[in-house]
Amino acid sequence: MYDYFLGGKDNYASDREAAEKIIAIFPRTRELALANRRFLRRAVAYAAEVAGIDQFLDIGSGLPTQENVHEVAQRVAPRARVAYVDQEPIVLSHGQALLATDEQTIMVAGDLRDPGAILAGEEVRGHLDFDRPIAVLLVFVLHFLRDEEDPRGVVRTLMDSMAPGSCLVLSHAESDRRLLPGTSVYDRASSPAVLRSEEEITAFFDGLDLVAPGVSRLGRWRPQDGLHPGDDDLPAWCGVAHKR
Ligand SMILES: C[S@@+](CC[C@H](N)C(=O)[O-])C[C@H]1O[C@@H](n2cnc3c(N)ncnc32)[C@H](O)[C@@H]1O
Repeated sequence: MYDYFLGGKDNYASDREAAEKIIAIFPRTRELALANRRFLRRAVAYAAEVAGIDQFLDIGSGLPTQENVHEVAQRVAPRARVAYVDQEPIVLSHGQALLATDEQTIMVAGDLRDPGAILAGEEVRGHLDFDRPIAVLLVFVLHFLRDEEDPRGVVRTLMDSMAPGSCLVLSHAESDRRLLPGTSVYDRASSPAVLRSEEEITAFFDGLDLVAPGVSRLGRWRPQDGLHPGDDDLPAWCGVAHKR
């Protein structure tokens, strides 16, 4: 569905049908997806350029699209290493095919609901050095975890395993009245959508040091590529924070 929102071609008729239902409920869904990608690119560039981080663990990475994390990171830090993790078989097969010749980037299967297994995975451990800072990317994925799946505990488990200086890059759709009717469409999808408030999304950063401007609307987070009209009132929040 997200691939369809972004204008991609790697989607099934059932994805397109469900995605069109979301667009009918919230006509700015495509803008929301594109604004999220712009935040992701700026946050990765920040991590590589300003924070000097050259390792990325991107969980719920999605299908390869334009300006992927490894491309943005390697432009700034040519030796940057990226581990993409996703649970969807179609994402894995496309990602692995695309990255077959890239030794600095891997794509592995993993479920965010079991962060311990992702962290213990041989491929991830062999690819990233956990004694040095890593940027952990949870971008538009935590809203697929139910409260009873303990999303805050998942974030804590991941960040507890990271070296000081590591950072968390996170974005999350908001429990806004414009989006809420759309959650019923996801009830029939592979993962439910759980929208959360600004306070709940901010709480994911507990114990970490938020970088300026703090938890923001997608378009307001360091908009050095210019604020796209309307990005600042899209129903999602984002932020980047470091581990001390
Ligand atoms: C909306 S896309 C976001 C992609 C990318 N992070 C971005 O922001 O452009 C969400 C992705 O998260 C993946 N996903 C959903 N639940 C997951 C889980 N429990 N574990 C791992 N990946 C998951 C989906 O398969 C999908 O590829």
